[in-house]
Amino acid sequence: MVNLKTFFVCLHLLVLIQWVKAIENGTQSKGFLKQLDSSTWIFGNDIWNLTQGRQYATKLWYKEKDLVGKAVGHYVSYNGAQSDLNWTSAAIVDSGSDFVNIRFTAKEGDFHWVIYDGLAGAYQYFVNHALPTLGEFRTLWRLDNETFPNGRTSVRDGQLPPLSSYVASTKVQDETWETANGTFLTKYDWSNFVRDTDFYGVYGDEVGSWYIPGGKDYYNGNHLKQELMIHRESQTGDAVQLNMIHGTHYQASSSDTFGANKTWGPWLWYLNNGSKADAALRVQQEVRAWPYSWFKDASYQSRGSVRGRLVLSDGRPAAGATVFLGDNHPNTTALDQGRGYYYTTYADEIGAFRIDDVRTGSYGLQAWSNGGSIADVSTSLLRNDVVVSRSAVTNLQTLRWNVTSEDNTIFRVGAFDRKTTGFALSGPTPFEHGRIAKCPANLTFVVGRSETGHWCFGQEALGTWTIIFSTNSSSTSTSASASTSTSPSTSNFTTTRAAKLLISLAGFASGSSADILLNSHKIGNITSGSALLPSSQDTYRGATRAGEWHLLEFGVEGDLLRGGGEENRLDFRVTKSTLWRGWLWDAVKLEWV
Ligand SMILES: *[C@@H]1O[C@H](CO)[C@@H](O)[C@H](O)[C@H]1NC(C)=O
Ligand SMILES: *[C@@H]1O[C@H](CO)[C@@H](O)[C@H](O)[C@H]1NC(C)=O
Ligand SMILES: *[C@@H]1O[C@H](CO)[C@@H](O)[C@H](O)[C@H]1NC(C)=O
Ligand SMILES: *[C@@H]1O[C@H](CO)[C@@H](O)[C@H](O)[C@H]1NC(C)=O
Ligand SMILES: *[C@@H]1O[C@H](CO)[C@@H](O)[C@H](O)[C@H]1NC(C)=O
Ligand SMILES: *[C@@H]1O[C@H](CO)[C@@H](O)[C@H](O)[C@H]1NC(C)=O
Ligand SMILES: *[C@@H]1O[C@H](CO)[C@@H](O)[C@H](O)[C@H]1NC(C)=O
Ligand SMILES: *[C@@H]1O[C@H](CO)[C@@H](O)[C@H](O)[C@H]1NC(C)=O
Ligand SMILES: *[C@@H]1O[C@H](CO)[C@@H](O)[C@H](O)[C@H]1NC(C)=O
Ligand SMILES: *[C@@H]1O[C@H](CO)[C@@H](O)[C@H](O)[C@H]1NC(C)=O
Ligand SMILES: *[C@@H]1O[C@H](CO)[C@@H](O)[C@H](O)[C@H]1NC(C)=O
Ligand SMILES: *[C@@H]1O[C@H](CO)[C@@H](O)[C@H](O)[C@H]1NC(C)=O
Repeated sequence: MVNLKTFFVCLHLLVLIQWVKAIENGTQSKGFLKQLDSSTWIFGNDIWNLTQGRQYATKLWYKEKDLVGKAVGHYVSYNGAQSDLNWTSAAIVDSGSDFVNIRFTAKEGDFHWVIYDGLAGAYQYFVNHALPTLGEFRTLWRLDNETFPNGRTSVRDGQLPPLSSYVASTKVQDETWETANGTFLTKYDWSNFVRDTDFYGVYGDEVGSWYIPGGKDYYNGNHLKQELMIHRESQTGDAVQLNMIHGTHYQASSSDTFGANKTWGPWLWYLNNGSKADAALRVQQEVRAWPYSWFKDASYQSRGSVRGRLVLSDGRPAAGATVFLGDNHPNTTALDQGRGYYYTTYADEIGAFRIDDVRTGSYGLQAWSNGGSIADVSTSLLRNDVVVSRSAVTNLQTLRWNVTSEDNTIFRVGAFDRKTTGFALSGPTPFEHGRIAKCPANLTFVVGRSETGHWCFGQEALGTWTIIFSTNSSSTSTSASASTSTSPSTSNFTTTRAAKLLISLAGFASGSSADILLNSHKIGNITSGSALLPSSQDTYRGATRAGEWHLLEFGVEGDLLRGGGEENRLDFRVTKSTLWRGWLWDAVKLEWV
């Protein structure tokens, strides 16, 4: 009897111990927020914790180490470094069995940290209340530079140049230094196309800090939106992990006013042991889980789909076309849009496209060539009033895209895709300071003989780039002086048909200018300071693939063109040159009108 009683007591005790342990376990791994004084809080979970002050969060404890050290820490700011948000209060605004949602409030809006039990890191998002009209808005980490010696973007991986190499070099422009051996150090090397980004961050042998954007609809701009991602802070040496959620680094401007509750994120800020393979696995998990079902925001959860098929007016499918869903009745280019939510995709080989998980609302759908079999297409498509409804598929059916007939083409150099695709030096990496200065000053391209790769990606130096071409147009007629001869090679043929010159620039940073001459007659210009050509921050920041796109058109009087197979000459004569500032070529096309 005694033994049995003891047995039951022991059993009860064991169950009790397990129960207490379970509670303890739960409480320890739970996210927490503690207020220390009127402007200091400490929060995190049992894996990491952080001390938040009025502007900056420091002392990021993870694996028994402070990852911020002497660096600035975490903050949110707009318009460059001028305005760091000041947090006036903090609270746990939601919690569940396995997470807490902590809100820090500033007068401009709320920054949230959603901390799951056992998660190394947090989901973060910002809800607008009163942000001013702005170009740059970012969240960032400035971390300990010994713990995080390396950086990784989708296009670059390696050591962040140490501060000592900056100190030993000569500053030559905005955040750019020339080393003693003539190479350049610049933070802009660590940029990328935001919508091509899987994950990025800074890392060392023991720890990595990463941003993983599961969805990207809160970023401004289109497929060609580029941003600075990480860098070495050139004054303090901090390892910087930047989250440009509204940025202008490669643009002329992108100034937006935001409605109440415009929300950036949630994205995942993720800590691990420095393993890129582990971060890449986590990306798959986040992409699958996006849009996040746990994010209890009615407008975030209200989403639908859009599909359709793009067919060119000449009957071809718009194979591989770039498709963008953005502002309805837009008043800026696709790249410059930023007040709402933006979706990007590419059509398939029959011109069909589908975009899922679009926030409900009214959109303007745009499409333009991404090269390939429709590389000749210089026009773009805009369809306004595309209404996306909750849990529904908006089928736009067949969208007819007006194009000029391919038969009208006299010549074309390059593929219309708003990028420098195919031209010399346009790769292999999309960013390199000063590469534009490696393009020749003088260049001659002979239509029918030269390959696309003979033309260089950007022009900047004093000199002339020439396109030699001929035309056998049936609408050419002989001029009076040619009527005495029957042989085209010795005759004076003059066309009577007018033409149009299309100059598609993938980017333009003012400082250099050119005259455009056809058979020595000036027919146009690429001019600094022109209202048609606002300057963007692309070529001098090392962009070699794209910047701000411009399509220029110049009329060509018929009597300027020689027909009958005779040689014509189109010159881009640089009249003014500024080092590293010029234009990126997309395509040049001459067509009959
Ligand atoms: C404690 O938490 C860990 C990780 O969440 C879990 O695997 C374990 O079962 C928990 N232990 C108890 C006693 O609940
Ligand atoms: C934060 O983490 C450090 C290191 O693990 C630990 O010593 C400290 O107690 C934690 N702070 C809180 C409030 O949990
Ligand atoms: C935050 O406070 C600092 C110091 O008072 C101030 O200089 C700064 O302008 C404030 N930030 C904003 C966005 O107002
Ligand atoms: C880290 O920062 C310190 C302090 O600014 C600086 O002295 C040091 O050179 C930096 N280290 C690297 C690798 O840049
Ligand atoms: C040039 O100098 C920089 C900075 O000291 C160094 O990192 C780089 O490896 C050098 N490059 C060459 C080609 O010598
Ligand atoms: C913004 O969100 C708050 C809280 O959910 C809500 O009360 C308010 O109506 C929203 N405002 C707009 C303009 O959507
Ligand atoms: C880091 O973590 C990954 C998986 O999370 C593991 O495979 C790898 O061995 C770890 N690396 C080190 C250096 O601990
Ligand atoms: C474009 O339209 C928006 C919304 O109506 C407006 O706020 C903005 O000022 C306009 N921008 C330009 C450049 O006209
Ligand atoms: C496309 O071309 C047709 C025929 O030239 C014209 O009627 C129509 O307005 C054009 N559509 C657009 C969107 O420009
Ligand atoms: C480019 O051509 C012009 C005219 O022939 C010549 O004066 C100039 O020296 C050339 N520039 C270079 C760098 O070869
Ligand atoms: C073309 O005409 C011009 C002037 O009319 C004349 O000078 C020139 O020699 C002619 N060229 C040929 C190839 O006939
Ligand atoms: C350049 O061309 C534009 C037309 O694209 C014209 O308006 C402008 O006057 C020209 N400027 C110069 C300096 O020739």
